[in-house]
Amino acid sequence: MQYRKRGIDSLDLAGKRVFVRADLNVPLDAEGRITDDTRLRAELPTLRALRQARARIILASHLGRPKGRRAPSFSLRPVAAYLREALGCPVAFADDCVGPEAERAAAALRKGDLLLLENLRFHAEEEANDPRFARQLAALAEVYVNDAFGTAHRAHASTEGIAKHLRPALAGPLMQRELEYVTRAFVEPKRPVVALLGGAKVSDKLGLLRNLLSRVDSLLIGGAMAFTFLAARGVGVGRSLVEPEKLAEARALLDLAAHQGIAILLPEDVAVTEQPSIPASQRTIVAVAAIPAEAAALDIGPATCRLFAGVLRDAGTIIWNGPLGKFETPPFDHGTLDIARAVAASPALSIAGGGDTASAIHQAGVAERISFISTGGGAFLELLEGLELPGVAALDDA
Ligand code: 3PG
Repeated sequence: MQYRKRGIDSLDLAGKRVFVRADLNVPLDAEGRITDDTRLRAELPTLRALRQARARIILASHLGRPKGRRAPSFSLRPVAAYLREALGCPVAFADDCVGPEAERAAAALRKGDLLLLENLRFHAEEEANDPRFARQLAALAEVYVNDAFGTAHRAHASTEGIAKHLRPALAGPLMQRELEYVTRAFVEPKRPVVALLGGAKVSDKLGLLRNLLSRVDSLLIGGAMAFTFLAARGVGVGRSLVEPEKLAEARALLDLAAHQGIAILLPEDVAVTEQPSIPASQRTIVAVAAIPAEAAALDIGPATCRLFAGVLRDAGTIIWNGPLGKFETPPFDHGTLDIARAVAASPALSIAGGGDTASAIHQAGVAERISFISTGGGAFLELLEGLELPGVAALDDA
């Protein structure tokens, strides 16, 4: 896949109606308040740049998974209010993303004006990548800009189908930055390249692990997924989470890594509990070889943190996805927060992605010292997995 895409500075957008697909998929509470505005903050520079260029901006996104039905709890209205406040300008809102209201609102835009369309996924045709629906979206504008990196792994009408009807199809500045950082990690990266992986399941990350083995110099594995690998090495892990049906594949990956000379580092010590459902007040640390049969490990221990921190300190490039333990439940957050600080302290180019990873970095207070935090979850993983992202493939090459 070609990662270098034509950007918004490649043509004069003054007066042009520009359809901007962004990922404004933010969590809302029961009162419709935005509980995490990370993705909105990431989109603001693009909107400012387009306003500055005097474009007529038609902004579209999905929010949640309303499954083709109009549901007020999935409305983008709160996002319109947020943007008005953050940009300090009027933001028009259309109750539907296609049809007469959207068309009228788009036609009424003056240079530099901004219109936000209602949730694209109120129409089942969006996720079905329906060509007629894609044409209706395309008819609203003269230029297509995709800045929705977080949704680029979906072949939907607004991310893929629309580009068949609306050219030029440009990458927005956020999309370009996301692609640029992953390219820097993969194409002629500064070595050694270290991948740091956590999270619950090996099954979600097998493709990723396989692709990383051909690109990295070492792989540090924590989180619950480490226990499937430890079990594959014959270590007794007590009641820690293991995916028995993935043991053979885990063993095959360990053999492949050994064959390729890639170091896979697994935890040496862990924090355990015998009652995972009861809040623990203190950490009981044991060596992995001594996990009691009735205990479950929920975090990496201090010796593992030191081991991983040493590798991170000497890295040229770090790619991080997934927490190293059950970080949402103290005291099992120590490992993840320590490692976040170690990534931040490393002189390496550091790239992190995934919702939990980003929260852990913010919780550790080190976001400023990570080179790049991706706004993507699934899209970030698929890009690292080496898969073609339909939303990126559809755009004009640079
Ligand atoms: C995300 O949150 O990862 C993106 O917005 C995509 O959402 P989806 O998984 O519902 O397609």
